[in-house]
Amino acid sequence: MKTVLITGGSEGLGAALAEVYARQGYDLILNARHADRLTDVRWRLSGRYGVRVEVLPLDLARPGAAEQLYQQAGALHMDIRILVNNAGMGSSGISWETDVAKEEREVLLNDVALMSLTKLFLKDMVQQGCGQILNIGSTAAFQAGPYAACYYASKAFVVRYTEAVAREAKGTGVKVQCFCPGPVRTGFFAKAGSKARGPILSASQAAEEAVRLSQSSRVILIPGMSSRLMLAAPQKLRVAVLARLKKPQ
Ligand SMILES: NC(=O)c1ccc[n+]([C@@H]2O[C@H](COP(=O)([O-])OP(=O)(O)OC[C@H]3O[C@@H](n4cnc5c(N)ncnc54)[C@H](OP(=O)(O)O)[C@@H]3O)[C@@H](O)[C@H]2O)c1
Repeated sequence: MKTVLITGGSEGLGAALAEVYARQGYDLILNARHADRLTDVRWRLSGRYGVRVEVLPLDLARPGAAEQLYQQAGALHMDIRILVNNAGMGSSGISWETDVAKEEREVLLNDVALMSLTKLFLKDMVQQGCGQILNIGSTAAFQAGPYAACYYASKAFVVRYTEAVAREAKGTGVKVQCFCPGPVRTGFFAKAGSKARGPILSASQAAEEAVRLSQSSRVILIPGMSSRLMLAAPQKLRVAVLARLKKPQ
């Protein structure tokens, strides 16, 4: 059976993506740190859709974790056709006051793990001549983000890295894409110590859009008219908006 591996698959957007793929009949391998939450998703989805769901609890912000996940996933002997690099975290505050260890973990998770997993799985997919890698970016990727500087910059990496690798993979039979939603209703903002601004999608709406848009041949996938319009605004206008941003209370 065709299998999707989703990092950060225990809650939020990752769990919603797992549900969309399970409904389509895919087997799943789900990763996150908390084994208990992964197990809840496992039994819910295997019970509801009759698919095989395996869980691999692992902290992807640890050095070497991507290689470990790759090895453990391989040992399951499932036919991994899609990798969704979804696990991510945010932070907020003035850059010289925020916790350096937290932001180091943020870059290790949002960028380093995503890059390593892309490389490891892409090599196999290119050899097989098929497969898909869906990296989860954000509309945050397209401008600087005062008071969430590290998060916005980490997502810019995701977009630029995906664009370059997608170009390299052209003609190999493997699709490499980046889904960039605006705010999504999950536990993300509470954990990052920030608040969502503007129109917000539910996790299941965002997941449906991610899977639907990923059927196209486009590399950068942006759901929702308001996000697309915002990103189409001239750079000068976006810089002017940034200049008016105030420190969150
Ligand atoms: N929510 C939004 O508004 C929004 C908007 C645009 C893009 N995104 C992106 O969407 C993705 C999913 O975010 P979300 O909103 O669904 O957040 P979320 O609800 O906080 O879920 C994050 C997921 O990642 C896992 N995770 C966190 N740290 C991890 C680590 N070190 N190793 C492995 N797994 C880890 C979490 O499980 P454990 O805690 O058990 O590890 C959880 O399953 C992220 O990349 C985020 O940047 C979110």
